[in-house]
Amino acid sequence: MDRLRLLPIDLPAITVNSNGSIKGKASFVRRLAIGFVILAILGLLYVPAYHSAQSPFLGLSETQSPAESFSNSHLIASMAQLPGWSYNTSRNLCVYIHPENTTSILSPTSICSLPPYLLIIICSAVANQEARAAIRNTWANKYNLDNLYNSTVKIAFLLGQSDNDTLNNLIVEENSQYNDIVQERFLDTYNNLTLKSVMMLKWVTSNCDKAKYLMKTDDDMFVNIPLLLQTLHSRTQPETLLGSLICSAKPILDPKNKWYTPKYMYSEKTYPNYLSGTGYVMSMSVASKLYQAALITPLLHLEDVYITGLCARRAKIRPVNHPGFSYVPRRIDPCVLRNAITTHKVNASNMYVIWVKVNDMNVSCSNRTRNDRKTVTLSRSGRNAGYYFKRKTINKCV
Ligand SMILES: *[C@@H]1O[C@H](CO)[C@@H](O)[C@H](O)[C@H]1NC(C)=O
Ligand SMILES: *[C@@H]1O[C@H](CO)[C@@H](O)[C@H](O)[C@H]1NC(C)=O
Ligand SMILES: *[C@@H]1O[C@H](CO)[C@@H](O)[C@H](O)[C@H]1NC(C)=O
Ligand SMILES: *[C@@H]1O[C@H](CO)[C@@H](O)[C@H](O)[C@H]1NC(C)=O
Ligand SMILES: *[C@@H]1O[C@H](CO)[C@@H](O)[C@H](O)[C@H]1NC(C)=O
Ligand SMILES: *[C@@H]1O[C@H](CO)[C@@H](O)[C@H](O)[C@H]1NC(C)=O
Ligand SMILES: *[C@@H]1O[C@H](CO)[C@@H](O)[C@H](O)[C@H]1NC(C)=O
Ligand SMILES: *[C@@H]1O[C@H](CO)[C@@H](O)[C@H](O)[C@H]1NC(C)=O
Repeated sequence: MDRLRLLPIDLPAITVNSNGSIKGKASFVRRLAIGFVILAILGLLYVPAYHSAQSPFLGLSETQSPAESFSNSHLIASMAQLPGWSYNTSRNLCVYIHPENTTSILSPTSICSLPPYLLIIICSAVANQEARAAIRNTWANKYNLDNLYNSTVKIAFLLGQSDNDTLNNLIVEENSQYNDIVQERFLDTYNNLTLKSVMMLKWVTSNCDKAKYLMKTDDDMFVNIPLLLQTLHSRTQPETLLGSLICSAKPILDPKNKWYTPKYMYSEKTYPNYLSGTGYVMSMSVASKLYQAALITPLLHLEDVYITGLCARRAKIRPVNHPGFSYVPRRIDPCVLRNAITTHKVNASNMYVIWVKVNDMNVSCSNRTRNDRKTVTLSRSGRNAGYYFKRKTINKCV
């Protein structure tokens, strides 16, 4: 729409050359040509304007006043609703989190009796036993945690509840064997991932607040703990919120898209800069500030945008990029993986493959920097220049 407004200003610039010098037929032909050019430009402008006019929410996005949203509520009801988060569903986190009460169904005992330096919470789906087993056997194996890191690193899997009680009972069994599962009281679904992350902040602030750092990651991630520890040890800032920074991402308005965000969930044009949810690390003081912010920030179902973008903005904490974190799948190459803190989209079988490669001491990586085409592209400012291409973005980090 801004472009339409610019048009009258642009027009004199186009026509000014035709004034004066040329007369008669030549002038007529030229004016005709210019007329066609203007029509063509208007035609081009018409296409995007048409598409936005198709949206029942034209002009509604900027209006926030209750009166206006009430008068437009019939329009909102006609717009594609987000499963589980329809227009009239409460987005007040307190309704789901119950900050005053304990909500954990399973909670590993003694994980923080000796506060760890780093607590890694791995968000996992109830049914993903195989992924959890692979992680326990590879990068988060108990032997390394207890001996190599001398118990300064602890891990726990975070789950919600399944509507299938057979699965819930299997989780009880799994936890009695490994004692590494936090299960919280909410229905574990994709559109409830924000509840999971806020539950993480709640559990950690009330059960492990003496830990120095908290990492949030997923069960399809390979985490290079030694490199992460090295990165954290070299940090001097007391407040840290570190990960793979995504800038100027725009909400996706296509209801068929996995990341569909209706206007009633988020009305601004772009998201605040945020860290990819595949892996981010924060100091414990940041975790508690983000938790307090979450209790007064309306829910957005995209957990990474919500926690590291919206809540961080409210808590006045700046998310910072570190090139070791990435949401782009990496090439399975020992020399690439040894320089990566996180590797995304790793299934159970690849978890073992990567673990062997990373620990293969026979491979010596030359000093020549390897060109890993699959890793994230960095702009000149050293920040990420790309995102899931589907999440329409113009990633310009300033
Ligand atoms: C909320 O809206 C959905 C459909 O949009 C409707 O099925 C449901 O009954 C509404 N709930 C309340 C409490 O109004
Ligand atoms: C929290 O627990 C108290 C005491 O058990 C109970 O009275 C109260 O209703 C609970 N609040 C919520 C929001 O569940
Ligand atoms: C391991 O941790 C224990 C308890 O914190 C400490 O007493 C011990 O010195 C540590 N060992 C090493 C090798 O760092
Ligand atoms: C519940 O989960 C179990 C174990 O995965 C499965 O065999 C069963 O079919 C599931 N039941 C339903 C109703 O989905
Ligand atoms: C999210 O969790 C709440 C609380 O458990 C539940 O009422 C709701 O149905 C869940 N939403 C989805 C989309 O699963
Ligand atoms: C894991 O992913 C690889 C490709 O990256 C694929 O070849 C393999 O079949 C997958 N394994 C499982 C168990 O899904
Ligand atoms: C490393 O090299 C040694 C000796 O050459 C060999 O015995 C061993 O199997 C190799 N390890 C791996 C993981 O390839
Ligand atoms: C790699 O760099 C280190 C120091 O930067 C140097 O000592 C070593 O010889 C180099 N190795 C190779 C194979 O170039």
